[in-house]
Amino acid sequence: MSPLRKKLIAGNWKMNKTSADGVALVQEIVAAAGKQTEVDVVVCPPFTALESVGRVLEGSGVRLGAQNVHPEASGAYTGEISVGMLRALFASYVILGHSERRSYFQESDSFINQKVIASLKGQLKPILCVGETLGQREAGETLRVVQTQLEAGLEGVGKDQIASVVIAYEPVWAIGTGKVATTEQAQQVHAFIRSLLTKSYGENAAEKVRILYGGSMKPANAPELLAQRDIDGGLIGGASLESRSFLELVAAASAVR
Ligand code: PGA
Repeated sequence: MSPLRKKLIAGNWKMNKTSADGVALVQEIVAAAGKQTEVDVVVCPPFTALESVGRVLEGSGVRLGAQNVHPEASGAYTGEISVGMLRALFASYVILGHSERRSYFQESDSFINQKVIASLKGQLKPILCVGETLGQREAGETLRVVQTQLEAGLEGVGKDQIASVVIAYEPVWAIGTGKVATTEQAQQVHAFIRSLLTKSYGENAAEKVRILYGGSMKPANAPELLAQRDIDGGLIGGASLESRSFLELVAAASAVR
């Protein structure tokens, strides 16, 4: 484990949990993990639960994140939410470029990049997701796809800003499928991502960036993944919807030495 990087476990609730359900879940998380400082813990509820969940998190070490944001500060963008609106609810992270946004909502690399830039400007830490589809992996295009998404997503991000960015490597074929990347497959891509960051930002800066793995991470497979040199935590979908599995993942991250 790198002494420069604290492990991070982030729950991506996706389109699950009402405000009341979210409060109940996060009360259990705060009770069990709200005081520990070994692992950074983030929950990303849907927009409708941000305020109520945020209230439960007050005074605890658990941070609030959103699942998306619009790059403009305000205006005629029906259905959208700005960085300022999220900051007003004390969100400190935002998931950007998730493969579900890329595929179901046609989000392009350049639109995602605008969101990254706007988030950093507004003191919101982006969790930038990258990852290949099964077809791309089978065609041997994994590294090319990841490189394109990473470089386009980070265009214009300065050396002084990169430590505030979190990268999530999420192979699309492993999301919600129960198929997890092998530790070797994951570590290979994570190391590749770090090498690209090193080229762009230098070794010191690149060593500070957290690179999360996402895609069917659960208590059974987490310890091995989290023990890899370049895997600094997890972006958790399914297993973040119940306190027991999510807390087991937090415990797995704090057990890695
Ligand atoms: P999963 O989702 O853990 O349910 O595979 C991860 C994600 O999409 O962030």
